[in-house]
Amino acid sequence: MKLNSQNNNVFDMVLFGATGDLVRRKLLPALYNAFIDQSFNPESRFFCIGRHDIDTKQFCDSAYEFAIEAKQNVDINSWNEFSKHITYVNMNVEQESDYITLKNQLDCNRDNIYYLSTAPSLFKPIIHNLASVNLNHEKARIVLEKPLGNDYDSSTDINDYVAQYFSENQIYRIDHFLGKESVQNLMAIRFGNTLFEALWRRQWVQSIQITVAEDLGVGSRGAFYEKTGALRDMLQNHLLQMLCIVAMEPPSSLDADVIRDEKLKVLRSLKPLTEEDVFQNVTRGQYKSGSVGGEHVKGYLEEDNINKNSLTETFVALKIEIQNWRWAGVPFYLRTGKRMEEKVAEIVIQFKDIPCKIFPTNGRNVGNRLIIRIQPEETVQLFFSAKEPGDGNRLHPVYLDLDFNKMFTTRRTDGYERLLLDVIRGNLSLFVRRDEQLEAWKWVMPIIETWENHKIIPKQYAAGSWGPASSSAMLARDGDYWHEEIS
Ligand code: BG6
Repeated sequence: MKLNSQNNNVFDMVLFGATGDLVRRKLLPALYNAFIDQSFNPESRFFCIGRHDIDTKQFCDSAYEFAIEAKQNVDINSWNEFSKHITYVNMNVEQESDYITLKNQLDCNRDNIYYLSTAPSLFKPIIHNLASVNLNHEKARIVLEKPLGNDYDSSTDINDYVAQYFSENQIYRIDHFLGKESVQNLMAIRFGNTLFEALWRRQWVQSIQITVAEDLGVGSRGAFYEKTGALRDMLQNHLLQMLCIVAMEPPSSLDADVIRDEKLKVLRSLKPLTEEDVFQNVTRGQYKSGSVGGEHVKGYLEEDNINKNSLTETFVALKIEIQNWRWAGVPFYLRTGKRMEEKVAEIVIQFKDIPCKIFPTNGRNVGNRLIIRIQPEETVQLFFSAKEPGDGNRLHPVYLDLDFNKMFTTRRTDGYERLLLDVIRGNLSLFVRRDEQLEAWKWVMPIIETWENHKIIPKQYAAGSWGPASSSAMLARDGDYWHEEIS
């Protein structure tokens, strides 16, 4: 993607929380890649805000080292070129007077983009202080990192607050999974072909699984994670957003609000969970010590900054029903967890079994399966049954295997790069609208409340496994299996 007339607006971007993990590990490398590709106007500038008493050179050098450590592909000479566009600003974001100094450095005739990658408790003071010096002008955009609130009420509170100073079309609520190539490809596969759309409904689909598994533990993020847990960190946002894209009706265009209207309809059709549903169909898990990739790793309770009696979940699996004409009766199984056997994100569409069997089988419906893998590889596999060569009529599962990295030679962009470019161009389609976000919170609240009211103790699972046994038992009750259990 090269610079063209549609994307040449010059901008000043302010990154709050610049000495934090996300800015140095993901955002700056993403902007660096976009810079190398000339995807934005080279006159644009980045103001990195932090509390460390360092100068711009020290900041850029440390950001480079951070990027290298995070295995980002950065070249020192090009990084030095990119660094010329960066200014490090040491300021107290809670102090109104510091914003006058910031404003003096910005050019308010340009698009001004504020990226809030700080602790959520700082969102309100930052928004207030930006507005106090009129930095919330009409050419301004604000990007809000998750978590935006901790529950429905706190999310409503922050959303109400930001709405006092910025209009909805200036607010970019980021969910970086929506920026992943393969998540967008899901829309292309669904709405760019007739092949699957005809089958994409209750008449032909048996069940759908969405898994986002990580092999890493909480690492240095213990203090954050203790207050968050897998339900709030991953399920309320990334997994529900993926579910929306899998289940939504075909939008009439790629217009931001048209897509967001369709996603919202899915969220509004989710069958509300009763307390009984939470007991039956939601598994809360926490990893204990175990082995990942042949290495012994400690359990969650032994990690740094974790309360030794913590009830925070590192795993959640649940069953969801969507009450609409397309999906009524089709179970959607969602799960996510840390310290699982491998890092993988995938969507498995299990089509219905044939109505009458004329071939001998081993009883399991292993064919008729479409697997869309989001990461680490971006692949689509279509499993079906074929006859084994030779005597008899035994069926054997075979698959068509499509690897997008091999199909396309162009560089696959990281989710953040795509989303940052969309902010720069003012394209809101891949950002979450206020009503979507609140609807997602509303739906997960019965789980949060049931866990809290009944002090539900997470079921332990060994690090390096696929989670607690009750997660598999939930599917087994429906005669189903997680994908890895039959492959
Ligand atoms: C973030 C979560 O939103 O997504 C992290 O806060 C998680 O806990 C991360 O590790 C996973 O994203 P990715 O792109 O590395 O799969």
